[in-house]
Amino acid sequence: MKIVIINGPNLNLLGKREPSVYGNETFETFFSDLKTEFPDIEFTYYQSNHEGSIIDKIHETGFDFDGIILNAGAYTHTSIAIADAISAINTPVIEVHISNVFKREPFRHHSYLSAVAKGTICGFGLKSYKLAVFSLISDK
Ligand code: DQA
Repeated sequence: MKIVIINGPNLNLLGKREPSVYGNETFETFFSDLKTEFPDIEFTYYQSNHEGSIIDKIHETGFDFDGIILNAGAYTHTSIAIADAISAINTPVIEVHISNVFKREPFRHHSYLSAVAKGTICGFGLKSYKLAVFSLISDK
């Protein structure tokens, strides 16, 4: 089973970025633990601060991967182009957020991606990604 995790802008700073919102753990540490926990899954990790690069990665993985776990960061709230990329592919996309966006500023309450994603998981810290993995496994 092949799963790609795609992280969008500013998520390269996890561990340093607003730890009261996003926690103290780096994504690299979390990702290494995730791979250990699910040794049978072939994980790929990609992070970019650029909208077009995220779209390129969705196209690249959107036809032969079993799942895309996407945290598009702030592009969630702005990007019709990422929503269109999700609509264009076959691989199921799970939208994830570390924070509970509904407890935060009103501009974070709307997602262009939720309507085209298979489902959305938010508010469980980095565990949101693990819950997305469980959901993809259970559909296999
Ligand atoms: C985020 C929530 C977004 O509103 C924010 O812009 C992010 C991270 C989250 O994981 O909680 O960059 O997607």
